Amino acid sequence: MTQPMPNSVAETAALLAKGGYLPSDSLAASVFLALKLQRPLLLEGEAGVGKTEVAKVLAAVLGRPLVRLQCYEGLDLSSAAYEWNYSRQLLHIRASEAAGDVSTASLERDLYSESYLLKRPLLQALELSAEGKAPILLIDELDRADEPFEAFLLEVLADYQITIPELGTVRAAEPPITVLTSNRTREVHDAVRRRCFYCWIDYPSAAREADILRLKLPNAPAALTAEIVGFVQSIRAMDLYKSPGIAETINWAQALTSLDCVALDLESVNSTLGTLLKYQDDIARIQGSEAARLLEQVKSRAREAAFAAEA
Ligand SMILES: Nc1ncnc2c1ncn2[C@@H]1O[C@H](COP(=O)(O)OP(=O)(O)O)[C@@H](O)[C@H]1O
Ligand SMILES: [Mg+2]
Repeated sequence: MTQPMPNSVAETAALLAKGGYLPSDSLAASVFLALKLQRPLLLEGEAGVGKTEVAKVLAAVLGRPLVRLQCYEGLDLSSAAYEWNYSRQLLHIRASEAAGDVSTASLERDLYSESYLLKRPLLQALELSAEGKAPILLIDELDRADEPFEAFLLEVLADYQITIPELGTVRAAEPPITVLTSNRTREVHDAVRRRCFYCWIDYPSAAREADILRLKLPNAPAALTAEIVGFVQSIRAMDLYKSPGIAETINWAQALTSLDCVALDLESVNSTLGTLLKYQDDIARIQGSEAARLLEQVKSRAREAAFAAEA
């Protein structure tokens, strides 16, 4: 069932938290404004910082369908909006011919009717909106699509309508709640940016990452959670090929709790690094002496914090 829209930034943050997503203040503000002013939201950031998840959680907590358009190189109108079902049209022609029923005008009318139309995500989203059930439209990893597709998308985002020459125009009175994401492998066009509210999603602060771990793994020992966050935050500051995202932190914490760890130790770190780092060069760099150094750093910081808390 469709849920009411949040009325403030704080309500937006609380709503996302209800769906298991802990946003930064700037993200909560961007989401709130995008919802309130019915503008698309463009989220940029490294892989694994929680861009796609924003759209999924919004759909869940607002009780709306999620329509997802995954972008890739070569994505075009027919895969993004609609295409005619040629093979079914052909079958229809054959059947009409066999029945001796080949009046060109009526055949054409039949062939270009809705039953031969394959509706792709953009058209699906506009149709739902036109029926008063505005969905969350997730246009994921826009940087992977080519620029001509961006130009087409811009038209759709400008008036929330798609014209099918043979059928007419589908127009949404209320726009779908649109979330675009980019991993920034190339710059998204200025014209698209201008249409959207923009939010850069950074890796979380230590405090927020600890909150996320507590939310996802409520039974993990508190000391372990704190050490995991300290360790991950330190390796993010290193110049790795691929820094771990939030999903990797969660996976690592799951792995360590499954091994019944109550605190980090060198052996467990070395044997579970593959859940945190996904490139052998990065693993080779951290495993062993570097892990030992980071671990010592994390433990001494924890000791200092405990000491300060006692004093
Ligand atoms: N702020 C957050 N609060 C809770 N979980 C998060 C948050 N950000 C990311 N996650 C977790 O990290 C996972 C990966 O996020 P995802 O949205 O797929 O990243 P991206 O699309 O930026 O690559 C999500 O499935 C979710 O479990
Ligand atoms: Mg994603």
